[in-house]
Amino acid sequence: MSTPTLEKSSGAPEAAQSNDDHLITLTMRVRRFNPEVSDEVTWVDYELRMDPKERVLDALHKIKWEIDGTLTFRRSCAHGICGSDAMRINGRNRLACKTLLKDINPEKPITVEPIKGLTVLKDLVVDMEPFFQAYRDVMPFLITKGNEPTRERKQSAEDRERFDDTTKCILCAACTTSCPVFWNDGQYFGPAAIVNAHRFIFDSRDEAGEQRLEILNDREGVWRCRTTFNCTDACPRGIEVTKAIQEVKRALLTRRF
Ligand code: SF4
Ligand code: FES
Repeated sequence: MSTPTLEKSSGAPEAAQSNDDHLITLTMRVRRFNPEVSDEVTWVDYELRMDPKERVLDALHKIKWEIDGTLTFRRSCAHGICGSDAMRINGRNRLACKTLLKDINPEKPITVEPIKGLTVLKDLVVDMEPFFQAYRDVMPFLITKGNEPTRERKQSAEDRERFDDTTKCILCAACTTSCPVFWNDGQYFGPAAIVNAHRFIFDSRDEAGEQRLEILNDREGVWRCRTTFNCTDACPRGIEVTKAIQEVKRALLTRRF
């Protein structure tokens, strides 16, 4: 295991040095894989001086910008909105941009690796295509038949509330890639696709609920869920993922939604 370090500038003025008092030294242990160079996976330790109030994403940026520009990961908004930087941090799926260093025990090496169950393309980047294919398969858009309205489609506050929780999904894949069923069977639709089906099945304006339920009645659909709650624990948006899956199962049995 190699340990690149970030050298401190020796000629720093005293005033600037005292401003560093709040910084701590920590180790980021990152899983590296570059198939263009080698088939081997390596774990590399990076020693950094960081403010514990900074985030894991800041530490990854520091590595990339100051130590090793080849480190590869996805991120865009840096504020928990785009869903692109889900990764396994200390063995748990989290968004790097929403995880403060002080909250994950920076006294021990912080392990960072890609989310599980999807093919790793390079370092922390996985192939998201199977995940998005499952999302597309549940038809995540409003479907209505005929009689195009000339005004907006109205909905009561109660009806809107019915699917409010599942509108919060940012498609980060933290839930699906924390699910043991998905790890063992990549064909399973997975929690995120079911959450996004739920968002439309329970929308009073939508008219394709039956169709979506039949799609999820498939052998790789909702019945594969073993209610382990990993998905609910992993969701950075606090969505009650397992509850949404249970509601879809119930709707399949009762055909009431
Ligand atoms: S349900 Fe939560 S964990 Fe799953 S994809 Fe959506 S935001 Fe991410
Ligand atoms: S970078 Fe957009 S959610 Fe983290």
